Amino acid sequence: MTETAPTMNPYDIYRHLRETAPVSKIGDGPWQIACHQDVNTVLRNHETFSSEVSLRPVEGRQTPTMLFSDPPIHHRLRKLVSRAFKPSHIEQQRDQITRSCQQLVSQILTETEVDLVSALAAPLPVMVIAKMLGVEDGNMQVFKNWSDAIFSNIADILFATPSPEALLAADEMDHYFLDKIAFIRQHPQPHLLGRLIETKTEEGYLSDDELLSFCRLLLIAGNETTTGLITASARVFHAFPATLGQLKLDPSLTTTFIEEALRFYSPFSATVRRTTSEVEIAGQKIPKGELVLPLIASANRDQRVFEQADQFNIARNPNPHLAFGFGIHFCLGAHLARLEGEIAVNCLARHFSSIRLTETESPEMYGLGGPKRLNVSLQVC
Ligand code: HEM
Repeated sequence: MTETAPTMNPYDIYRHLRETAPVSKIGDGPWQIACHQDVNTVLRNHETFSSEVSLRPVEGRQTPTMLFSDPPIHHRLRKLVSRAFKPSHIEQQRDQITRSCQQLVSQILTETEVDLVSALAAPLPVMVIAKMLGVEDGNMQVFKNWSDAIFSNIADILFATPSPEALLAADEMDHYFLDKIAFIRQHPQPHLLGRLIETKTEEGYLSDDELLSFCRLLLIAGNETTTGLITASARVFHAFPATLGQLKLDPSLTTTFIEEALRFYSPFSATVRRTTSEVEIAGQKIPKGELVLPLIASANRDQRVFEQADQFNIARNPNPHLAFGFGIHFCLGAHLARLEGEIAVNCLARHFSSIRLTETESPEMYGLGGPKRLNVSLQVC
């Protein structure tokens, strides 16, 4: 059930780091953490490794999102939306997501070479999260463009000066959602945004800024990474062609396939924390106030945790990958992402007998999230 991976540059670098410099400083910049055990320690220990990474003065920052907050703010924000992401709620979306996926795949059936990102991997997640937020009547391509512009600028948004493109996208997105929020206040609705608008906390109703911050986070977090999971699956089908046949023969392997794809080509390849005190990891002292990058994609190839880590094992179990993070910030949308990934992979496996990349792998494929474009050649069964 296993096949050997072709040689991949970033993974060679990760291996080198794990073997020679598991905790290392990048010039004058952040520290990078390469081994599974140490990445796990950083993610688990939110008191020493804070998610409030930006040093901008409070007045220069946007309303906090749960992703970049520590308790108690983090817990308050997460609690407000966590119910909507429970497995039982997410499962109710199965039929709807399957219909959307089948519709998208049926449109590419007649073509032989397509950009899988624009045909399936980008529109599916944006349709799903737009439906949850009650904005499925909006322009999906516009949502996607906003999400791309902000996600690809996340480091500058946190630490430097965001690009004019990212500022414009954020501004347009805010205006769009403010109009929606005003409309929903007048016409209450049962979707996630409608419920958030009606939620009364100890501090009263959520402000426009708080509501906007949820919209931004969910639209962006729910898009890029899930696109990355679907393209990761296509890359697996290309690199390990037998996996497609295995899924056709035994669709129950989809669950472990998805977990292994998340491990093998982790879409959220790294995250960021700031130390709140001096700390020692793997014998290396890191001073207080430093930025730390837990390299999730490297941890997920750590041979001390994963037997034959550079091989794709469709039935790997257990699979303690860290693709969804760990600890209090563990991905809120993990059930949804798994469901979308499962439906997309099943749909692709049912419709196609072969899925091949028509271009060589590029560094862009290893960025945060997923590639902007992935040309594939598809053979119909
Ligand atoms: C394959 C797809 C996905 C991957 C690989 C992924 C990965 C991650 C990771 C690694 C984190 C933790 C980041 C950290 O600790 O700094 C995270 C957090 C988060 N994710 Fe995802 N994610 C995916 C899909 C989604 C979806 C579909 C949604 C929702 C629509 C979502 C919403 C969130 C939110 C809200 C957080 C912040 C949770 C918190 O801070 O408590 N994600 N995700």
